[in-house]
Amino acid sequence: MAAGDSFYIATPIFYVNDVPHIGHAYTEVAADVLARWHRQSGDDTWLLTGTDEHGQKILRTAVANDTTPQQWADKLVEEAWLPLLNTINIQNDDFIRTTDKRHEDAVTIFLQKLYDDGFIYSGEYEGYYCVGCEEYKQLDDLMETETGDYAGQLVCKIHSRPIEVLKEKNYFFRMSDFQQRLLDLYEERPDFIQPESVRNEILQFVKQGLSDLSISRSSFDWGIKIPWDDSHVLYVWFDALLNYITAIGYGVDDDEFQRRWPATQLVGKDIARFHAVIWPAMLMAAGLQPPKQVFGHGWLLVGGEKMSKSKLTGIAPSQITDTFGVDAFRYYFMSAINFGQDGSFSWEDLSARYQSELANGFGNLASRVIAMVNRYYDGVVPAPGEYSADDLKVQSVVKAAAENADAAIQTLAIHDAIAAIWTIVDELNGYITIQEPWVLAKKDETRERLSTVLYTATEGLRSLAVLLSPVIPEATAKLWNALGAPAGLGDLTDQVIVDAGHWGQLPAGSRLGTLEPLFPRIEPSEVAG
Ligand code: MSP
Repeated sequence: MAAGDSFYIATPIFYVNDVPHIGHAYTEVAADVLARWHRQSGDDTWLLTGTDEHGQKILRTAVANDTTPQQWADKLVEEAWLPLLNTINIQNDDFIRTTDKRHEDAVTIFLQKLYDDGFIYSGEYEGYYCVGCEEYKQLDDLMETETGDYAGQLVCKIHSRPIEVLKEKNYFFRMSDFQQRLLDLYEERPDFIQPESVRNEILQFVKQGLSDLSISRSSFDWGIKIPWDDSHVLYVWFDALLNYITAIGYGVDDDEFQRRWPATQLVGKDIARFHAVIWPAMLMAAGLQPPKQVFGHGWLLVGGEKMSKSKLTGIAPSQITDTFGVDAFRYYFMSAINFGQDGSFSWEDLSARYQSELANGFGNLASRVIAMVNRYYDGVVPAPGEYSADDLKVQSVVKAAAENADAAIQTLAIHDAIAAIWTIVDELNGYITIQEPWVLAKKDETRERLSTVLYTATEGLRSLAVLLSPVIPEATAKLWNALGAPAGLGDLTDQVIVDAGHWGQLPAGSRLGTLEPLFPRIEPSEVAG
């Protein structure tokens, strides 16, 4: 991507029937890391997230809690979903709720257009529905249970709860008209759905043929009214998918819409079908471009199963951040799991990586180097002398790491980007062990060499602060306060990330600030789980 390009990234909008767990936070962090990276590359970046508030699932939760769905949604948004963004340090540019008037108005415009253009007709739906998934189901999505509360009943394979049998007059969207156009899209743009495993699954699904989609319900009224028939409300997924365009001015602010759309869309693989089949078909019907990309990431697993509240395996993000801090949360999930694959969460793995990678690998490196500049040069960055082959090797590792990390981010391979950046951490740790600055400090004739070594290490830290700032914003801000800011380099977030690998940006002669501890030691007794 060239600097200044538009980069619009969106997370799914989250159901407000319950509070967030780390699976939800995972999508948010991934989107935020990508958005911060693009912002620091000078791109015209926009990160959207929000909440999905209509439909039977929310309605039933509200009724079960003796309240109205609107009050329930307001409470959950205020008390759980907005605070989540703080807990994990998300810099979103907007937060959309499907009960926002701006959303409802633009959805109405969209629906009326599809109706006027003949893409919606009235018919009768007869079949199964899972309220947990908010999805119409085929027989092979269901199973008959033999034991437990629902013995002998048909249950949804995902939620293990009984499904509803519907027979209703509904409005239908002519999705079957779009089968060939969707297949052409997947063919022409192999990157449209990623990773490959998700792409293949969607391809198989669409090749089998598409049915028209029921897009309205008349047996309850918690939803957006169908503009030409107010005895129906819009199907919650049709409503929710539109958030990606209603939030950026669809039907209301054409300039803003043109500036932002299309989006890179991160979704869990379980909801890739909605995003890669129904959503582009809806957009095609309205004469709009499909998303730039739909990326289906993997699941966080607990005990080998998708972590979920309904299965009581949900872990609240604050359980982790309270002990390990927000940076460790972000770093762990982004580096330990290949983005696009499933990953198992365990407290042991988190603790081990915190200690070895963040505290010992990165944190110690930063504190040792800064302590040596303080000790041997009174806190003033020394000017390098002539560079040796070892010093030049550090420079080339930094340069390659910055290039490789940027290339990885362009394909959403966040874990590869972090691995590329970590080559600098490893290189600098090895470099210091071999150069032994504490030995060089002992003799006058090796003082010049000491300057070069410490300049090299400090400048390496500068590149690390910039490259890691999208992933661990708090720790890198502390490092920057000790290093870049006092040297007059400006704010950390203003550092152009693609230039991070250019050597020699830290001016010799600048005085360091104090370094606050980056990753304090955590006693095993403090760890939950
Ligand atoms: N409201 C719909 C999305 C509508 S988007 C137009 C929805 N909401 S959700 O709250 O159930 O899930 C939101 C996201 O969280 C999905 O992408 C889902 O895949 C993700 N995750 C839920 N549990 C997860 C894990 N255990 N691991 C990783 N992601 C998980 O679906």
